[in-house]
Amino acid sequence: MKRNLITAALPYANGPLHIGHVAGCYLPADIYARYLRNKGEEVLFVCGTDEHGVAITMRAKKEGITPQQVVDKYFKQIGDSFRQFGISFDHFSRTSREIHHQTAQDFFKKLYDQGLFEEIETDQYYDEEAGQFLADRYIIGTCPVCGNENAYGDQCEKCGSTLSPMELKNPRSALSGSAPVLKKATNWFLPMDKIAESPEFKTYSKRVENWRGTVKGQFKSWIKEGLQPRAMTRDLDWGIPVPVEGAAGKVLYVWFDAPIGYISATKEYFEQKGDKDGWKRWWQDKDSRLIHFIGKDNIVFHTIIFPMMLMEHGGYILPDEVPANEFLNLEGQKLSTSRNWAVWLHEYLEAFPGKNDELRYTLTSIAPETKDSDFTWKDYQLKVNSELVAVLGNFVNRAMVLCHKYFDGTVPLAFSHDPAHTGLQKRTKEMIEAAEHITLKVNEMLAEFKFRDAQAEWLNLAREGNRYLAETEPWKLWKSDPEAVKGILHETLNLCVRIAAVGEPFLPETSSSILKQLNFNGSNASLLSGWNQVEPGNKLGEAFLLFTQIEDAQIEIQIEKLKQSAMDNTAEAKESAPAPQKETIQYEDFAKMDIRVGTILDAIKVPKADKLLQLTIDTGIDVRTVVSGIAEFFSPDEIIGKQVSVLVNLAPRKLRGIESQGMILMAESEGKLIFVQPGSQAKNGSGIS
Ligand code: MF3
Ligand code: ZN
Repeated sequence: MKRNLITAALPYANGPLHIGHVAGCYLPADIYARYLRNKGEEVLFVCGTDEHGVAITMRAKKEGITPQQVVDKYFKQIGDSFRQFGISFDHFSRTSREIHHQTAQDFFKKLYDQGLFEEIETDQYYDEEAGQFLADRYIIGTCPVCGNENAYGDQCEKCGSTLSPMELKNPRSALSGSAPVLKKATNWFLPMDKIAESPEFKTYSKRVENWRGTVKGQFKSWIKEGLQPRAMTRDLDWGIPVPVEGAAGKVLYVWFDAPIGYISATKEYFEQKGDKDGWKRWWQDKDSRLIHFIGKDNIVFHTIIFPMMLMEHGGYILPDEVPANEFLNLEGQKLSTSRNWAVWLHEYLEAFPGKNDELRYTLTSIAPETKDSDFTWKDYQLKVNSELVAVLGNFVNRAMVLCHKYFDGTVPLAFSHDPAHTGLQKRTKEMIEAAEHITLKVNEMLAEFKFRDAQAEWLNLAREGNRYLAETEPWKLWKSDPEAVKGILHETLNLCVRIAAVGEPFLPETSSSILKQLNFNGSNASLLSGWNQVEPGNKLGEAFLLFTQIEDAQIEIQIEKLKQSAMDNTAEAKESAPAPQKETIQYEDFAKMDIRVGTILDAIKVPKADKLLQLTIDTGIDVRTVVSGIAEFFSPDEIIGKQVSVLVNLAPRKLRGIESQGMILMAESEGKLIFVQPGSQAKNGSGIS
């Protein structure tokens, strides 16, 4: 039997987990691990936090603490959330540990000693004020594609273009704001172009054919565009020191060290068990299968770069499967950590205690396996209420309640071969066959990483159960034919066992609640071995409801919270990012503007326009009408009599049918508007220059 080494992308220890992370990677990995364990296969499921790279230093800068404090804080928080949520890692580590530094350095050293790396000198941006080289993310400038003045050196978040720092116009340093200079630096590059041509890589490439469409698609497009050597070291001070001479001040590229984290986590796991070489069986034995669960932004690293590292090192197995997911959106918008547009896992756990499975169920039902999908709170509520409560919870509860009512809470006898029950037994046989068929289908789908379909199919077991009870109507037979009722409920209980056993990977807590009600203590693997699991005469546990309704009020709180964070964002964005300086103009350009002090004589709301006020202004030269977009900030009453600065020679424009003759100047601060006024009373018509 194969060993299955399952990895889930190491989350950056730079912020809490949100449901996008969960749906994209950790939940499917957990379902798969549980599924294989239930099948009786050997599984090792590892993960940990990714604690190097610019993601961490950026966060430290933002929070005003050290990178070490950042990773300590989030390692703990992320680990706690995973534990509470019940992700069944066998081991959860972190890349700041000694064992990882050692493993990553040894790995690099081996490749280095083989002469694999190309030493290349390149021009790098350097911030002379800060005295350091700048990572791509630390360089801000104008996007050559869309003109966004705040594009990053690796990407423009406005138009989504992948960029390199040299492409930015007017580059400036995010550290000091100064213009960076170019300075030469030597780094070690992985010759991806050459490795791609090797027979070993070609053989490996064949595996990709069987992988998900997006994974295959991205893999092929990278190969087709022609791979370039990529630097595996960086001039940074946060990371794992490059273990060769002449590399002072350099660290391993975070994408070099992070995937090695899977190896060090395995090592650490076995070291703690006192089996120092145990990890080798998982990483270096042909009988192991390596399966990487990731989000789609990680595809190139897991299908090309890491496999190249492994094959060049030698001795390692290569990934067998890379089931990458697409992205999850939230209420129709892209999830965003920085904009706080997210449902944070730790907050969910606090707001909905005991409802882990409700979130698991919803996220798997919309798993972004083949395309991006959308989480909405309404949908969550609907799925819990109409599927978990109404279908699954209802079925199990009916079965339990009937057994308590008729059989004093014990398992009744199965059907005997009574000719009077031929029809009923036929119907029962159909139900069992349907259940067996569904079980097979669920398992097939799980094996193919189709978790969404598998879970939907699994719920059909409960639908079958509800149908079976509705058609056989044991409550009507009780008086006339108690033997029949025994047979029906006996098989109904068997179906409950099956639901718990097959459903464990999806809803582990629900599964154990069902088994608890049945007073069952078998392993899931044995429960899956055949139909007839319940023992007549055995005492059942107490009946309780598996799920409760999600009320409108609970959902409304969550929706309100999101709205609030969207609002805070607009204010914060305005506050935290002063607009970059516009392009240089000459004095003549400025002198063209005729700006004067005026006084607002009257102000009225413009009908059917939320934002507009119609102002009557004494400009000293005349009294004129100006339409201004300030209605959200000021009521007409509070501004009458105020002195303002008016641009009087602006060409007139019609706004909502009213001709606006000029414009008043406003300062925008922290999302609010403030009048630009002379420091003390001035005569109307005074020029401003
Ligand atoms: N930290 C990365 C991310 O969140 C994932 C790292 S996966 C690993 O995108 F393979 F590098 F570990
Ligand atoms: Zn752009």
